[in-house]
Amino acid sequence: MQVDVMINHIGQLLPMNRKGPAKGEAMKQLEVRENVAIGIKDGDVVWIGSNADTSELVAARVINARGALVTPGLVEPHTHLVFGGSREQELALKQQGVEYLEILKQGGGILSTVRATKEASKEALLEKALFHLDRMAMHGITTVEAKSGYGLDRETEMKQLQVVKEAQEKHPVDLVSTFLGAHAIPPQYQDNPDAFLDEMLAMLDDIQAENLAEFVDIFTETGVFDIEQSRRYLRAAKEKGFQVKIHADEIDPLGGTELAVEVGAISGDHLMVATDEGIAKLAASDTIGVILPGTSFYLGKETYARARDMIDAGAALAISTDFNPGSSVTENLQLIMSIAALKLKMSAEEIWHAVTVNAAHAIGRGEEAGMIAVGKKADIVIWDAPNYLYIPYHYGVNHSRVVIKHGKVIYERPEIR
Ligand code: NIG
Ligand code: FE
Repeated sequence: MQVDVMINHIGQLLPMNRKGPAKGEAMKQLEVRENVAIGIKDGDVVWIGSNADTSELVAARVINARGALVTPGLVEPHTHLVFGGSREQELALKQQGVEYLEILKQGGGILSTVRATKEASKEALLEKALFHLDRMAMHGITTVEAKSGYGLDRETEMKQLQVVKEAQEKHPVDLVSTFLGAHAIPPQYQDNPDAFLDEMLAMLDDIQAENLAEFVDIFTETGVFDIEQSRRYLRAAKEKGFQVKIHADEIDPLGGTELAVEVGAISGDHLMVATDEGIAKLAASDTIGVILPGTSFYLGKETYARARDMIDAGAALAISTDFNPGSSVTENLQLIMSIAALKLKMSAEEIWHAVTVNAAHAIGRGEEAGMIAVGKKADIVIWDAPNYLYIPYHYGVNHSRVVIKHGKVIYERPEIR
């Protein structure tokens, strides 16, 4: 068989090829294939077989995996990719013990990024988003969800969504767009958040007509939107035909996890302080829990989401960086895999499900991303790692050696010596 690329001498391959998300116990069952090779043609995987049988393949390019680990490209299911400016001056405030929601209340936090995003030109936002995408791709991520939410007005929210669309034209990584207009209450609406939500809902027809977002998300939190407001907003979005997501139970336990299940959200995200009842409902539902432990770490919280209880109860979990300029400033999902191991006590088997197949299902890409299978897109990472246990174990650095997106090598670790 003639192929464009052959990857041979794969020590461990994680195909992650399963129907539907892995729930509960199933997150522990990892298929590991040893001593295999992969053939890629026209962007797709066309052959997976024993390394002893590669004489069947005639390859234009051969990449030797050198006995290392090979996995699907990572899927990043929750980022705030497009924003102006940065907030490094807030780090000192955090050190002084000023709480995240207090900074927001004083007009900083999300609202300071809103000001910077309004000021930024579309070109500047695009350039910056592409830079962050490059960095995600270097770290082995080949599919990225991107939220708006730093506009809080029609013009700027549209600008952010258009940047995601243009970034998709310029960048090989697949993007999935979410409208998060309901991310904070702008100052002029402080006394009338419902009117602000109506203004955001009024944008949905245009967003749909221009195909600018698949999902609608809301920040359900003390001082932002309450459960009643969130329920009304998400129901209205669903009636328009959008699937929905929620920033739920991140700081205060308002019952966002329960609401995610009630409205049939594709994912409930954060869940840091989800209650027993919320966890039980999540486990019994089709909603995927997207856990963002980088946020607990970065905000200096003692509390981490109860991922163990969630998985033990039968829930399907994904994990994510939550990349954003305030509560989790990193594009490195591998670092989050380590935090998931150390702080969420997730096993390596569970973690690999959480960054591939389950993450793909959390953003409606379960049929096409987060797996290596014949007939599917070749989104593949060759790691500088002998086995799948190694990535969460060796923390804080980039382990990707070769990143392949849709059959094309998009990153190769430079050889310095
Ligand atoms: O997921 N919680 C709300 N939104 C983001 C943070 C956004 C920001 O601080 O800029 C989050 O943590
Ligand atoms: Fe977020």
